Amino acid sequence: MLNKIDNLLKETEGFLADKIDDVENFRISMLGKKGKITSLFNEFKNVPNEQKREFGQKINQLKTKALDKVNELKSKLESDIEFSSGMDLTAPAANLNLGSRHPLSIVRNEIIEIFTRLGFTVSEGPEIEDDWHVFSALNFPEEHPARDMQDTFFIEKNPDILLRTHTSSVQTRVMESQEPPIRTISPGRVFRNEAISARAHCIFHQIEGLYIDKDVSFADLKQTLLYFAQELFGHETKIRLRPSYFPFTEPSAEVDVTCSLCGGKGCNVCKYTGWLEILGCGMVDPNVLDSNNIDSKKYTGFAFGMGIERITMLKYGIKDLRLFFESDVRFLKQFKGSY
Ligand code: DAH
Repeated sequence: MLNKIDNLLKETEGFLADKIDDVENFRISMLGKKGKITSLFNEFKNVPNEQKREFGQKINQLKTKALDKVNELKSKLESDIEFSSGMDLTAPAANLNLGSRHPLSIVRNEIIEIFTRLGFTVSEGPEIEDDWHVFSALNFPEEHPARDMQDTFFIEKNPDILLRTHTSSVQTRVMESQEPPIRTISPGRVFRNEAISARAHCIFHQIEGLYIDKDVSFADLKQTLLYFAQELFGHETKIRLRPSYFPFTEPSAEVDVTCSLCGGKGCNVCKYTGWLEILGCGMVDPNVLDSNNIDSKKYTGFAFGMGIERITMLKYGIKDLRLFFESDVRFLKQFKGSY
């Protein structure tokens, strides 16, 4: 009996296989229900008492050896299969090809973040608007050229329903639904009937800002815009305000920043002036406050509006606005890693 065990031990130790099936057959032949080791266990009751201890130890040793052998051979052969099928489970995972944010979204989010730090909320309004919210409530005279068919996409005439030509319409929406103090910015899409070129598109994006409270002054406007410009373009940035005209602000100004690409020295982006125009602004015209039921004797405010495409072009030195709308991944891919 003990000899039998020794022979089986030798058989186990010497067993080799190059196919998983052979290992499985070996397992069945040794450890299966009718296997050689299993039947030895069945004979245990016939072993004389004085040999039981030695027999028990040996047969348990044999069983452990056989199990180890089976497991060792199986895992070796399985990993061989992995390699031979070209699969290497230790190889690093392939990169997931993640998309990236659109440059206009990156810059919009950055602008929103800057103004949120100053306590501005974010408001939205509809893209399809009426004449009141886009023009009349903002003090546009009846014959103002912006109302012209050549600029505005009309959906219906009399009463006029149109695609908003600027996000200033959200000012009207906010003023009619909120009491001062109001401090909000409104990002969104706007539409103008313009020929598409490197510098213009019929659909583009703006961010409008509005601040109404007691004693809001032109100095508040300047300081807010200086903070904004320095956060967006860098802390050395300077601003300058040039007098301008908008129907809804008085006084009005256009704001330039020192060119962030040449640091104000002059380059082809700033046309060798050292300055780049980034937005329009002004003190909210008292007529606008009164049209929207805000008492212009009690409250003053400032407003500003900027084109996101323009700011993005200046920030990244992009020369053609059409790139934003063509979905060319070679262009979009360059903004990977930005948020
Ligand atoms: N709505 C103007 C435009 O589309 C931009 C603008 C200028 C907005 C001055 C303002 C402002 O709020 O005060 O060109």
